[in-house]
Amino acid sequence: MSQDGVNTGRRRFLMAATGVVGAAGGVGVAVPFLSSWQPSERAKAIGAPVSVDISSLEPGQMIVVEWRGKPIFVLRRTPEALERLTQQTLLARLADPDSSQPQQPDYAANAFRSRGEELLVIEGVCTHLGCAPQYLPQVVPQAFDANWLGGFFCPCHGSAFDLAGRVYRGVPAPSNLVVPPHFLDGTVLTIGEDGGAA
Ligand code: FES
Repeated sequence: MSQDGVNTGRRRFLMAATGVVGAAGGVGVAVPFLSSWQPSERAKAIGAPVSVDISSLEPGQMIVVEWRGKPIFVLRRTPEALERLTQQTLLARLADPDSSQPQQPDYAANAFRSRGEELLVIEGVCTHLGCAPQYLPQVVPQAFDANWLGGFFCPCHGSAFDLAGRVYRGVPAPSNLVVPPHFLDGTVLTIGEDGGAA
C-alpha cells in the first residue's frame, strides 16, 4: 500500500517534471531518469537531502528533482550557454548580475551561480509569487523578448531569468532564483547538503 503510494507520487511528479521541460517548446530536452531517489517519503517530507545520478544528463538537458516539496531544476549547460553568461549584452540586462543578494550559498555567488561552471542547480520557483518558470534555452526571439538570450520565463506575470537563474531588470520578480545547498560526488548530485568543503 505504502509502496503503491510512493510509486504513484513519484509518477505524478515525474509527469509534472516532464510537463515543465516539455513546455520549453520542443527543444529536445528530456527527463532521462529519476530512479535514484535515496530517502524515504517520510525522510523527504522532513527535508532530508536527495541524491540523483546525473551521469546521463547531456549538455542542454534539464531534469527536475523534488526537494522539500519544491521542484529543483538541474541543468547541464552547454559551452555556448556558459559563454553567454559573462557577456556584457546579457549582464547589462540583469538586476543582480553579481549575485549580491543572498539567494545562494557562498560557493555559488559567481557568474555561473554554481559550484562548477557546467551544472546549474536552482529552485524552479519564481521569486515573484512562486510559479514554476519555463526552461527556454534557445537564443531565439520570443513573444515576450525579441532579443531573448536563453533562460527561464515565468509566463504568469512575465518574469525572466538567465541560464544562471539571474533575474532580468524590470520584471515582477525581485531577485535571482534560489540556489539550494548541493554538492557533486562523482556523478551523484546531492541536494540539501553542502558536502563539507565549499
Ligand atoms: S510568479 Fe513568476 S512572474 Fe509572477
